[in-house]
Amino acid sequence: MNSNDISEIIEADRAHLWHHLIQHKPFESVDPRIIVEGKGMRVWDAKGTELLDAVSGGVWTVNVGYGRESIAKAVYDQLIKVNYFANSAGSIPGSIFAKQLIEKMPGMSRVYYTNSGSEANEKAFKMIRQIAHKRYGGKKHKILYRDRDYHGATIAAMSAGGQDERNAQYGPFAPGFVRVPHCLEYRRQDGAPVENYGEWAANEIEKVILAEGPDTVGGLCLEPVTAGGGVITPPEGYWERVQEICKKYEVLLHIDEVVCGVGRTGTWFGYQHYGIKPDFVTMAKGVASGYAAIACCVTTEAVFEMFKDDTSDPMNYFRDISTFGGCTAGPAAAIENMRIIEDEGLLANTVKMGERTMKNLHALMDKHRVVGDVRGKGLFCGAELVADRQTKEPVDEKKVQAVVAECAAQGVLIGATNRSLPGLNNTLCLSPALIATADDIDQITAAMDKALTKVFS
Ligand SMILES: Cc1ncc(COP(=O)(O)O)c(C=O)c1O
Repeated sequence: MNSNDISEIIEADRAHLWHHLIQHKPFESVDPRIIVEGKGMRVWDAKGTELLDAVSGGVWTVNVGYGRESIAKAVYDQLIKVNYFANSAGSIPGSIFAKQLIEKMPGMSRVYYTNSGSEANEKAFKMIRQIAHKRYGGKKHKILYRDRDYHGATIAAMSAGGQDERNAQYGPFAPGFVRVPHCLEYRRQDGAPVENYGEWAANEIEKVILAEGPDTVGGLCLEPVTAGGGVITPPEGYWERVQEICKKYEVLLHIDEVVCGVGRTGTWFGYQHYGIKPDFVTMAKGVASGYAAIACCVTTEAVFEMFKDDTSDPMNYFRDISTFGGCTAGPAAAIENMRIIEDEGLLANTVKMGERTMKNLHALMDKHRVVGDVRGKGLFCGAELVADRQTKEPVDEKKVQAVVAECAAQGVLIGATNRSLPGLNNTLCLSPALIATADDIDQITAAMDKALTKVFS
């Protein structure tokens, strides 16, 4: 691309684009970064700068890396055959991908296609609400969500959003969503025990159910590993107890795998580390690694059956549609994405490289007092920065952003919790593609090392 073309593109961007998650004003004097090419773990911007991408497209999405011609070809072949038909009818890639996906999810049975993580979560919320109406006279309609979790950007998804800074100024929210406490061991709540913290944190959910009335609570929506809320890996004993509580009070368990799904944590799904039997699993980002938009709300045969048990009732089915849930590019890309993960052994690589990342992050913690805690599962890791290890006072957010900027200046893109939690946007995040090599991981953590030295000395 010649420099005239680039200037035109930058001008058009400046004049007409409203970027996601960016506060535009402070960047008015800086040229917007335009990504023009990607290959493997790396992207190039319009100025020719090469960047090692440790965040899979910024928001943990491009799981199989950039430049996958076989996915592009699968999408092309499908699009020239038939690009779209509403999902009230079937499609060849839609059926094939559903079957392959369910094979990876013992206990699950039905796939509902849609086009974003937020929307997939809303499908589960709507199913839970409809079950409440069908079975419990509408009473068992409340949906519990957890402090620090995120489930999407729509008003209903934000009503189930545990990130107060993200939600600020967008209320009022929908009724019927109730918050339960987070389970971040490093920031145990006042009065929480050091021993058996996982069980304690799960029991807090039970307390909320009892306070609300078990006959009013229909669902519990949780991330298996909390992503944007600070890469929170669950404490030991947590999930076992959560599962028991859901069973005891007939609360449907909805696992939001929008980030963890399709390999990110080293298993096909994050919940599979913990022996959980969910009623709903939602997924989006890694399903087709961003090569096409696709999201799924997956449920069990038992849930599906509840929507067809009374044929005399004309309202007795899920009266919902997602227009772009009928796009065939999504499942066509998803089939090839899954084949790549399998054939290239990317789950095993994720485990191995995840261990290396954690080892390197622990070394950073040994060297830099500002690193208060490191957490991770597979290639999904975080480092929480604190001004004081004793009090755990978070560092100033500007310094967290300075570390991210310093890494970018060294050609490495890392992430950080961003305008999510009041006073607690202090976790650096890594989610490189599942193809990462040892050299890539070492380059990423070496950049962090230099950046931490520069910003905090
Ligand atoms: C855990 C989780 N759930 C849901 C969503 C929403 O997905 P989408 O942006 O595709 O609507 C996100 C997005 O980051 C997420 O991290």
